Amino acid sequence: MLGPVILAASRSDRMRRLVSAAPVTKPVVDRFIPGETVDEILPVIRELTGRGLELTMDVVGEDITRPEHAEAARDAYLALIDRLGPLELGTRAEMSVKLSMFGQALDGGHELALKNVRPVVEAAARIGTTVTLDAEDHTTLDSMFAIHDELRKDVPQTGCVIQSYLFRTEADARRLAANGSRVRLVKGAYKEPAEVAYQQKHEIDKAYVRILRTLMEGEGYPMIGSHDPRLITIAQELARRAGRKLDEYEFQMLYGIRSDEHLRLAAEGHRMRVYTAYGTDWYGYFMRRLAEKPANLQFFVRSMVTK
Ligand code: FDA
Repeated sequence: MLGPVILAASRSDRMRRLVSAAPVTKPVVDRFIPGETVDEILPVIRELTGRGLELTMDVVGEDITRPEHAEAARDAYLALIDRLGPLELGTRAEMSVKLSMFGQALDGGHELALKNVRPVVEAAARIGTTVTLDAEDHTTLDSMFAIHDELRKDVPQTGCVIQSYLFRTEADARRLAANGSRVRLVKGAYKEPAEVAYQQKHEIDKAYVRILRTLMEGEGYPMIGSHDPRLITIAQELARRAGRKLDEYEFQMLYGIRSDEHLRLAAEGHRMRVYTAYGTDWYGYFMRRLAEKPANLQFFVRSMVTK
């Protein structure tokens, strides 16, 4: 019940101002977003890679309103890549980007997002790593997939995300599995209408399994983006049946969520990548984490009341 309300609030400027200004917000935010600057995030990268985990770094931000903001997003990623280079982590630290932050929703947004994200993808390739395009709401996906195809012409390892709650995704998965793409499969974190998306958890989970089978049996590199213990067990079985070795697929989870499980899977020899967000514009990302688990909201509200 609460999830859709929180997701609606995630798009409200008034709520953004209220939540961002609340003095007790920060400790709760820190659980999911462990830093605001590159200097704050580098020790986190060192710590997690030191524990055998891999990372995908997200500079938080989305729904920008001016082209200069898209250039600032590009520059923030380039600055991160500059600092990652000397660490020589290769694909152990890759990047995740939201095209809305690169200007996709502005006038001429498709071209603008491609123009701004291309230098990031090229700079990542120069230090031996890669970029994955996050999936946002369903209205943005045709543009995202077209940008993914375009970027892969020069940098084939560029990845993208697909969401099992959308009806369209089984067809997208077949195409991406056939063309050898790196694909992260997630359930989906946005509020989507019944015309385009499953609304029931069991339908979303069943679709996840069907789509994952397609990815595992295909030519690409599947990335299982989920904390769901049932789906993780099923993914291991599907990988085994498809004859995939441990380095031919990977698990991905969000920083701050089921951290013991990150370490357990890595200790079993799996590639385990932690999606680690940082930056100051954390509101949208934070609210989606609250919407996924109402207990997070109770924790947040309790800390406001007891402060
Ligand atoms: P589910 O929601 O069923 O959760 C399973 C269990 O995990 C819960 O019972 C709980 O224990 C734990 N859990 C899950 N979410 C939690 C939370 N917020 N706080 C505390 N515990 C939690 N979405 C999208 O639309 N576009 C994208 O690009 C991405 N990218 C992405 C990258 C990665 C690496 C991950 C893991 C997820 C995403 N997502 C995403 C988010 C995704 O769509 C989905 O909303 C969340 O992963 C939650 O779904 P689960 O599959 O984890 O299952």
